[in-house]
Amino acid sequence: MSDLETFAEQAIAEAVATLRRGGLVVLPTETVYGLGADAENPAAVARIFELKGRPRAHPLIVHIADGEALADWAREIPEAAWLLAETFWPGPLTLVLKRGPRVSDAVTGGLDTVGLRVPAHPLAYALLHAFGGGVAAPSANRFGAVSPTLAAHVRDEFGPACPLILDGGPCAVGVESTIVDLSSGAPALLRPGGVAREEIEAALRVAVPHDQSGKVRSPGQLASHYAPRARVVLCAPSEVAEREAQLRREGLATATLACAGGDPRTVARQLYSALREADARGAAVLLATLPAESGLGAAIADRLRKAAGPR
Ligand code: TXA
Ligand code: MG
Repeated sequence: MSDLETFAEQAIAEAVATLRRGGLVVLPTETVYGLGADAENPAAVARIFELKGRPRAHPLIVHIADGEALADWAREIPEAAWLLAETFWPGPLTLVLKRGPRVSDAVTGGLDTVGLRVPAHPLAYALLHAFGGGVAAPSANRFGAVSPTLAAHVRDEFGPACPLILDGGPCAVGVESTIVDLSSGAPALLRPGGVAREEIEAALRVAVPHDQSGKVRSPGQLASHYAPRARVVLCAPSEVAEREAQLRREGLATATLACAGGDPRTVARQLYSALREADARGAAVLLATLPAESGLGAAIADRLRKAAGPR
């Protein structure tokens, strides 16, 4: 075995031991870093909410090692769920299903449903496989703040209170998973994310409308979320230079984030780092242009709108 493999095995063993005694572990996924706890230990799950400063009623996603484990965590699983699991897992897709008996109120905030996902990251797989249970994990950032796509972001976020981190390098996708609700009849998109809605519709052969009613308690659906300290202002590419000049005349430091025109995969991968960098450089205003809203562009536009907040 190489030194690197030994090192990874020791890190996994330590992380598993931490989960087993009710501690928190920061785990890498292909979307963003997660702040994980044993999903079946309500006291451990409560620690996640404390550290994040997140309201208790907001449900967490349970991460599982593979698609077969779906039946351990959900009940009355529709055919569509198995199809999506087979097609997109491991990967950036979360399925909301009726919860099984293993799922506690601590995880779901009392909802009768549970969000489940199989992340595509070798360290996440190694952890979930060795742990054997489910890991409840929201993004590893303080409530309302920008999600972390590097281990260093998580350290910056929590400082000395930071739990054990499994450093898996930069997240390959860079925006959170797509959430599809299959718990009540017709499928609905609750959050655009790493898997394009078009791909899900092609797999299911039905339309999957975006449910923005807010009747499900999804913090990702709050109008203001994913926000840096800088004020995010959305504008057309043709307006950027003029807005920039105007803000500078007002004495405000600006940063720009051009999401129109680029390869959406690259834009998504760099999005949250760019928001954090704007803060690090002391920008008061971040001028951002939106990508075309198809495929991954829908998730990028959704996050930028939420970072900009209600107008
Ligand atoms: O990519 C991701 O999904 C990342 C990584 C760590 O897996 N996780 C993540 O978790 O983004 P979080 O907690 O930041 O966002 C999860 C979203 C929330 O908006 C939550 O309300 C929603 O999923 N959610 C979880 N369980 C749900 C349920 N039973 N019904 C409806 N929404 C649910
Ligand atoms: Mg989050």
